[in-house]
Amino acid sequence: ERGEYRHYMQKEIFEQPRAVADTLESRIGPHGVLPNIFGVGGDELLAKVQGIHIVACGTSYHAGMVARYWIEEFARLPVSVEVASEYRYREVVVPPGTLFVAISQSGETADTLAAMRESRRRGYLGTLAICNVPESSVVREADLKLMTRAGPEIGVASTKAFTTQLTALALLTLQLAQQRGLEATRYADLCQQLISLPRAIERALALEPQVVELSARFIHRQHALFLGRGAQYPVALEGSLKLKEISYIHAEAYPAGELKHGPLALVDEEMPVVAVAPSGPLLDKLKSNLQEVKARGGELIVFAAGDAGMDAETGKGVALRLDPVGEFIAPAVFTIPLQLLAYHVAVLRGTDVDQPRNLAKSVTVE
Ligand code: F6R
Repeated sequence: ERGEYRHYMQKEIFEQPRAVADTLESRIGPHGVLPNIFGVGGDELLAKVQGIHIVACGTSYHAGMVARYWIEEFARLPVSVEVASEYRYREVVVPPGTLFVAISQSGETADTLAAMRESRRRGYLGTLAICNVPESSVVREADLKLMTRAGPEIGVASTKAFTTQLTALALLTLQLAQQRGLEATRYADLCQQLISLPRAIERALALEPQVVELSARFIHRQHALFLGRGAQYPVALEGSLKLKEISYIHAEAYPAGELKHGPLALVDEEMPVVAVAPSGPLLDKLKSNLQEVKARGGELIVFAAGDAGMDAETGKGVALRLDPVGEFIAPAVFTIPLQLLAYHVAVLRGTDVDQPRNLAKSVTVE
């Protein structure tokens, strides 16, 4: 039941500290990822992996995109990520030792399931399902599995499924990285970051009153741009998907460096530009991208790490500060204010938040 919350989506957003903690439970300890959390023989199979193909749809696809940045950086394995409806009809080249990873909340998405069946004929080392429904088709048909423990997700717009998928993919990253000799202190730091994720999400949720305030800026908007760089680019994609799904505002996400290759032409006083700007090596580059928006009168809404010094960049826009967090978990943490933004804009616009028009919770037809 919804309890004190106005919609299931809001309840599910606030369940995320618990859902992420449950997904970590008995899978990671003080010394790292525990043995065989992917099923019997899982660690042996993962040790043989030389590359990864991730396939999913929608929000689950965005989780896969984040994982590509992680796995390439920390495990030094090549990763491709593709939407299932494209993957299944493409003549995919599968190098020896490639692992197929399907990500699905429901485990019944028609394209994801068909892609997984198709992968059987394509010569993979094995298949891994990251899924929220234990008895689903995707889970039944996979060699290895790691369940997200989000609990039932009722709102059509996916929230806690996404952050628990990121949590599961972070565990996969750590396992692969350790097997490939990631330096011990680095590994320990990443584990600590992941263990601290539920608390970090709680702190981000505490920003709700500020997000409510800035959501008023969107009530009469037709369009919005979302920008991010690195692993925050898929977070920007996810933020724009949430906004368009439930508020029906046309939203697009770009990697910030692409701005001047086209979308900058859209920027004027009518265009709110939402940027995800945690601290990190790409922050200065992002700041110069945002200067370009400001110079054209675009209204900047920046979600920044407390130490990022973004206030001066926003002009008539607004910067909302999050507590600084480690770079590894930042994508999951910065997702939270974007979910809250989409939710509160939709509430202000009076749309049907839990049941957006034209959409189904589980897309079981092609
Ligand atoms: C967006 C959303 C969809 C799903 C997509 C895949 O909020 O919910 O984009 O993420 O339909 O669904 P699953 O993960 O069940 O395969």
